[in-house]
Order: sequence, then C-alpha cells, then structure tokens
Amino acid sequence: MDPKLERLKQRFFQIFGDQGRHLTVTRAPGKVNLLGDHTDYNEGYGLAVNFPLEVTVVSQRRSDGMLGMYSCDAEERIQVPAHNLRYVAGDGWANYPKGVVWSLQNAGQKFEGLNLLIEGRVPQGAGLGSSTALAAASALAAASVEGFKMEVPDLARCLRNAENQFMGMHSGILDPLCVLGAGQGNAVFLDARTLEVEQLPLALDGALVVVLDSGVARSLKTGDYAKRQEECREALRLLKTRNEAYQSLRDVKVLAFERHKRILPPVLAARAEHVVYENDRVLKAREALQAGDAAALGDLMNRSHRSLSRLMRCSTEELDALVALAGADPACFGARLTGGGFGGCAVALVREEGLDDFLDRLKRSYWQKIGGKMKSWVLDLVGPASEIEA
Ligand code: GLA
Repeated sequence: MDPKLERLKQRFFQIFGDQGRHLTVTRAPGKVNLLGDHTDYNEGYGLAVNFPLEVTVVSQRRSDGMLGMYSCDAEERIQVPAHNLRYVAGDGWANYPKGVVWSLQNAGQKFEGLNLLIEGRVPQGAGLGSSTALAAASALAAASVEGFKMEVPDLARCLRNAENQFMGMHSGILDPLCVLGAGQGNAVFLDARTLEVEQLPLALDGALVVVLDSGVARSLKTGDYAKRQEECREALRLLKTRNEAYQSLRDVKVLAFERHKRILPPVLAARAEHVVYENDRVLKAREALQAGDAAALGDLMNRSHRSLSRLMRCSTEELDALVALAGADPACFGARLTGGGFGGCAVALVREEGLDDFLDRLKRSYWQKIGGKMKSWVLDLVGPASEIEA
C-alpha cells in the first residue's frame, strides 16, 4: 500500500469515523495549455497536457443525505445537506465539491450522501487547473460511491456547469476535457465544439515541456477574463452581419477574417484576430506534434504569446519578461503564457540536454529583471483523472 494513501485513509477515519463501507480513492491532475488560449469559449481548439501534481480525494458513502467535506490543506471540515445546495462565500474551497454534486444532480444523478477528504497538490492561482482537478476528483468520487458512470464529454460539461453556474467562474470546457481525457505520455488536441479529445503522443526528440511560474497569482473572478468573453461575443455579432452562418468565432477562417476585419472597431478586431489566428496555430501545432517537430511547435508558441500579449492583452509585465528571457535562451524552442493570463504561469519547450543550466540562468535573469522568484516544473505527462485501486 502506498504510504501516502495509507496516511490519507487514516486521516479520513479520524475525521469522519468509519461507516464500515468501502473507501474510494480518486485523483485528478492539473493541466497546462501548450497552445490555444481564449479559444474554448469561442468553440475553438486547444492543445494541452496534464500537470503532474494532483488532487487526491478519499470518499465513502453515507446514508443520511449529508455531504461531509474535509480539506487537509485548510484543515477545515464543512458539512451540508446534499440537496438544495447553494454557493456560500464563507464555504470557500467546499463550494467546488458542493458545485460538482449540484451539477451531477442537475444531470439526473441521485445522491444518498457522501464524505470526502481532499488533499490538493496542484498550485493554486497559477492557471494550472487546480480548481478543475478538485472538481474532477470529487466528481469521480461521487460517481464511484453512488455507482454511476459518465462519458468524458458529459462529465466535462458537468464540471464546467459547476464552475460557471454554481461558482460563478467564467471558465471554459478545455480544462475539464484535458484533465478527464489526456492519456499518459500524451498531449491532447481538444475541440470545444464537438468535445472531441484526440490523443497525440508527445514525442519531440530531446525536448521537454517546462512550466515556469511568474509568482503572480491570477483569478478568473476578476473582470478581465469575462470582459474578453464579452468582446468576443460582440465581435461575432458584427462579423455575422457579413456571414450569417457564423455560430462562433471558430467558424471565421483566416482569409475571411482578413476580408471582414475592417468592419470591427480596433479593440474588437484585435480580440477576434487573436482567436482566429490562435485556432489556426493550434491546427498547425497538431501537425507539428504529429511530425515530432519541436522547432515548429516552439515557433507557434512564440507567436501565440505575442498575440496573447498584444492583441488579447491578457499578459503581465512579469509573464512578458519570463517569456522573453526564456525565448532568448538557445536551449528554448519557444515559450508562451498558459491559461487565461493576467498572472500565473508560462510554458516553454526546452532542450533536454542542458535543461538544468537553462533553468538556473532563467531564475537568475528573472530575479535581476523583475525581482521575483520563479518556480519551475519539468513535466512528466501523467494520465487522466481516475479512481485508484485502494
Ligand atoms: C481559463 C479557463 C479556460 C480557458 C483559458 C483561456 O483557464 O478556465 O477554460 O478559457 O482561461 O484559454
């Protein structure tokens, strides 16, 4: 038995006692977008991998209609009736599992009651999918304890509904799809319209994916992300006057955009240009991955960052510095901010040989330029959220 799991189970019994029923253990990784940001809420494409630090949930059924939750990180226990669940600001982290149960109930699943003990290791506020990991591990726990199964697209929709409708977060579908769908050793190509998940083995000769944390936290609750969604909706509304068939910015191809863009006011033209070209870059990146071409993928990542920074305006001084410093290093194929932006992390594709020296150089130069500490993770591509044999 894994000593970490044994420790978590003992903690579970200390907190909730033992109902004498089967204990379920589920885990879910975070995620990192390699390419394709601010595309999912425009029904576009993304290319992502799982982030190896995880959320682990130990759970057990209870039959009194209550939902018991304990966070090992907050050292806090919260218990509420499992029906008529509501978002309560004071419940903090517990709103995620509550939101997931609420969303699964809305999708027709029945709940007798559930105890959940949660340990989170995905860094928070870094754009690495910590909230999706918590939601995914809780959802799989609920499904296992209550004995139902859902397909990846349906479960991904439930997680998104929990975040959007229960938590009031303006997030899209790519994070849930990646966390639930990316196979071990793979990147995934994701389609936010069809919810297709295509596995792409990440076999880039001598290149590794590295996450670089700017040390500045981000939040999807601040207005900037929602503002980008609104701007994209407005750009679509205007572009539709040129072609009624457009259902989302995903339908606008590069050439058509170039023909129509002058009808858009400058800010909306910039946002739409990012989305249209970013979707195109993701399709090209898929080909680069299939061909094992690290240089081509790195180039697309660099272009994506410029577009996120100048057109989408969702970068920060720190992220721009980090990406510029990383990109200027000969060991780096390319780098970009990852996720929603407005803080958080960058992702870089780096030569395996000399990786440690690269990271040392970057830490030093980031400190000199920004005066902040940079954290980094070299990614080991773990599999999707799952139940662990306990
Ligand atoms: C956040 C959201 C995602 C996606 C990214 C931007 O991370 O959770 O759904 O919209 O921003 O690509």
